[in-house]
Amino acid sequence: MAAPAIYLDYPATTPCDPRVIEAMLPFFSAKAGNPHNRQHAAGRAAAAAIEQARSQIAALIGARPAQILFTSGATEANNLALHGMARARQARGRHIVTVASEHASVLEPLRALARDGFDITVLPVDAAGLVDPERVAHALRPDTILVSVMAANNEIGTIQPLGAIGALCRARGIPLHSDAAQAADRLALDVDALGIDLMSLSAHKLYGPPGIGALYLRAGDPVPLLQGGGQERGVRPGTLPTPLCVGFGQAAALAGAARTAEQVRLAALTDRLWQGLRRRLPDIRRNGDPAHSVAGLLSLRFPGIDATALMEDLPDLALSSGAACNAASGLPSSVLTAIGLDAAAAQSTLRIGLGRFTGEADIDRAIQLIGDAIPSRLG
Ligand SMILES: Cc1ncc(COP(=O)(O)O)c(C=O)c1O
Repeated sequence: MAAPAIYLDYPATTPCDPRVIEAMLPFFSAKAGNPHNRQHAAGRAAAAAIEQARSQIAALIGARPAQILFTSGATEANNLALHGMARARQARGRHIVTVASEHASVLEPLRALARDGFDITVLPVDAAGLVDPERVAHALRPDTILVSVMAANNEIGTIQPLGAIGALCRARGIPLHSDAAQAADRLALDVDALGIDLMSLSAHKLYGPPGIGALYLRAGDPVPLLQGGGQERGVRPGTLPTPLCVGFGQAAALAGAARTAEQVRLAALTDRLWQGLRRRLPDIRRNGDPAHSVAGLLSLRFPGIDATALMEDLPDLALSSGAACNAASGLPSSVLTAIGLDAAAAQSTLRIGLGRFTGEADIDRAIQLIGDAIPSRLG
């Protein structure tokens, strides 16, 4: 039997940790119960398990359990934060500030709000993908009602200077939202220290199950996107999926416990990959700036190569091309465009994402496979 492909697409989705699956399993059957029904023991046990999960997620980001609302993922959390806060605060103003390298689940809701008459300022980033806090300061106005800046970028790994941005938003009383889908298991995030008022999280980016996420809310509820049975204070109604909540909680606890050591391990593996590829392929270039990026993510340009075509030559590696995120639109990645790459450079970009189950042997094999594939592509 052929060896399974080496999975190097962790920023897209992480495999569920077996300890997470183990924690979830009883809640699918033996321990199933409506967590919103306190009249029977099964319901009360499910509710208790959900509250424990809420505490575990809160602990990961220095929040209080009551400040965590479950959603279906970071996409929904971002939509709820942006649409919901825009509606809740529109009497004070209609100006929102964000950054060009944000995920589509931030930029698209803001485009929709712009069509509804909100004024959206999209700040540029530098070649490393960083937004300058000075630019944020200059963009703020008396009618600014929300700022949204991601914690770590999904394509190039850039860590934004949230502490500085949080301090200046706080000084002006403007809520700061941060999409931390890519950061929660990689950075020590403390919502109080960073001055963050809303934060979006996703379980399937930190070895938890797909289909669940959370929105951290410091104070002041957004207008709900959905109407229903009043669960999650009515801000996000719908029966909570107990197994997914439990899995997310377990994943958050594991991520918090492993974070420091895991980042050191991933940094060493990333360096091994980068150095190994560079030795084989002196022409490759690295997008972004490793000094300002999360460990485990390499965004590489292979001059003269179409990355999507290259991936066809690498069936044993699960990777993403720079264009993959926008495959449906056919446009080059907006993140790569934002850091100044032209369409050809974006087209030649491959994202390699390492994670919890990546070992040295995987890295060495990836170096060999990519190193062998490029010369034949260049012909
Ligand atoms: C930065 C960022 N935000 C949001 C999302 C969307 O997360 P989800 O898949 O949980 O909706 C992703 C994942 O694609 C992401 O990388």
